[in-house]
Amino acid sequence: MNRTCFNTDLSEKDIGKKVTLIGWVSKKRNLGSIIFIDLRDRSGIIQVMVKDSEKMPDIHNEYIISVLGTVSKRETPNPKMKTGSIEIIAENIDIINTAKLTPMIIADETDALEDTRLKYRYLDLRRPMMQNYLDVRHKIKMAVHSYLNENRFIEVETPILTLSTPEGARDYLVPSRVHHGKFYALPQSPQLFKQLLMIGGIERYYQIARCFRDEDLRADRQPDFTQIDIETSFLDQNQFITMMEGLIQKIFKETIDFDVKLPLRRIPYKEAMDNYGSDKPDTRFDIKLHDLSGVFNETTFNGFKNVETIRGISIKGVASSTSRKVIDELTLEAKKFGLGGIVVLKKENDILNGSFTKFLSEKEMNGLEDEFKLENNDVVIFAAGNYNRLCPLLGALRCKYARELGLIKPNTYDLLWVVDFPLFERDVESGNITSTHHPFTRPRDEDLKYLETDPTKVLSYAYDIVINGYEAGGGSLRIYDQDVQKQIFKTLGLSDEDVKRKFGFFVDAFQYGTPPHAGMAFGLDRLTMILGGTDNIRDVIAFPKNLSAVCPMSGAPNVVDDSQLNDLGIAVTDKEE
Ligand code: AMO
Repeated sequence: MNRTCFNTDLSEKDIGKKVTLIGWVSKKRNLGSIIFIDLRDRSGIIQVMVKDSEKMPDIHNEYIISVLGTVSKRETPNPKMKTGSIEIIAENIDIINTAKLTPMIIADETDALEDTRLKYRYLDLRRPMMQNYLDVRHKIKMAVHSYLNENRFIEVETPILTLSTPEGARDYLVPSRVHHGKFYALPQSPQLFKQLLMIGGIERYYQIARCFRDEDLRADRQPDFTQIDIETSFLDQNQFITMMEGLIQKIFKETIDFDVKLPLRRIPYKEAMDNYGSDKPDTRFDIKLHDLSGVFNETTFNGFKNVETIRGISIKGVASSTSRKVIDELTLEAKKFGLGGIVVLKKENDILNGSFTKFLSEKEMNGLEDEFKLENNDVVIFAAGNYNRLCPLLGALRCKYARELGLIKPNTYDLLWVVDFPLFERDVESGNITSTHHPFTRPRDEDLKYLETDPTKVLSYAYDIVINGYEAGGGSLRIYDQDVQKQIFKTLGLSDEDVKRKFGFFVDAFQYGTPPHAGMAFGLDRLTMILGGTDNIRDVIAFPKNLSAVCPMSGAPNVVDDSQLNDLGIAVTDKEE
């Protein structure tokens, strides 16, 4: 197995060289006396030509072979392949290992369903595009190590078996065999430990950290995912954000050779919600939410009176394709967001049409026309209701239309910070107050006065980095004043007893000289999705779970032996059939 190089290391300048290549047979074409083989290794595919087919052993797809041959110019070059201008004229082919017929086509274009791809992930990973995703992921990590090392950070591992961390999701629990009835929690993030490392004098920490969250899965969420986790002492918000911008610039440059212009825009949370209906706005297209309270200030329609907000969007050029069915779908969508309904009007033949127009005065019709500068074939969509329900609905609709209408240019990157998040949010259903980020986020100094009287008015020193509408990372300045921390716990309804049990060790540590500190975590998987060009997080993780949190390859989660349960002092009372 004296391999000379990887397939795509070879180019026209190597013509005439004798080489030995090793790889998998991706394709075999038999043209009678001549056989062509596409040989695949990690770097890519090269064509092998066997002139004397008699000399070739019986090979099939996915056999591993070693090819001894000469690099030659290809008569009919293939511009789509990196090695498309050359081929190897084989002198000898040895089979290194055979392979069964594979259950899926191993090529970028495969007809396999995702569950088959996940079941045979080791075969799926042979597809060049999958290898590319893992390569992008690796390059991001290399850029992170190099940038943070240059900036005097050190990587420190933190425990996987630990106590619960308050990131807002459900914990994965691990029962203790030694202490029956007690459980470790897998970390939702290394948050508590990285702050303790600051108290421990480390000053600049990072970790490519595995995190575990039991939450509903989506196209950009996995139960078991990876963060680029960072914490620093003695930097203020500007200094910290500037340092992180340098990191993101390096990541883009070294993975996809894209120049990110710095500094990035910073949009206050309120402005993001007002204009884009999202705290992770995609600003690659110009559809904005409009506040219509001025247009409807004299409304006679009862559903629009005494409401928190009336807002809408207009979409250019879609009136003719907005059928009754589309309007019904939009109404259904509105109901999913907890709203009573939604109004859809079309501008056709210079007038606004729609069943709702009977509730509109002429002044209101003109108001809408002026507000959105409506033209024929435009649609205007609006509703009234709770701000926290209505804005996200319109935010989702603007993205849906942008995708459907192809308003987003491919290979464009839109990076921004969302800042000034509220410290707390009130759950729309339960009315309970929870932390928007986590309870260690520092309130803005000027808002401390509202902590007791009107906590939802308090803004925080928290920031999220948003790329192409994804929350790619988030963090904050941390509280280092014990009294403020106590007050926050109180506002969250945590008793002294709760605090002691959940984070007693953490709170105690703050008494011994805590430096002002700040940090953030980037989602490595999400960054890889963005830079690799996929909208499916499972593509960028070697062995992911499916949407039901199952690994179709290993079958995890699975039942365990009764003896293991006995050791743990656990009885299963409710089993999945
Ligand atoms: P946060 O919870 O915002 O912050 O997480 C940071 C980033 O991690 C990514 N992320 C996920 N990626 C994939 N699957 C998931 N289930 C998932 N959940 C989060 C996102 C997100 O922006 N300890 C704080 C950070 C800090 O304050 O320093 C934290 O974990 O890209």
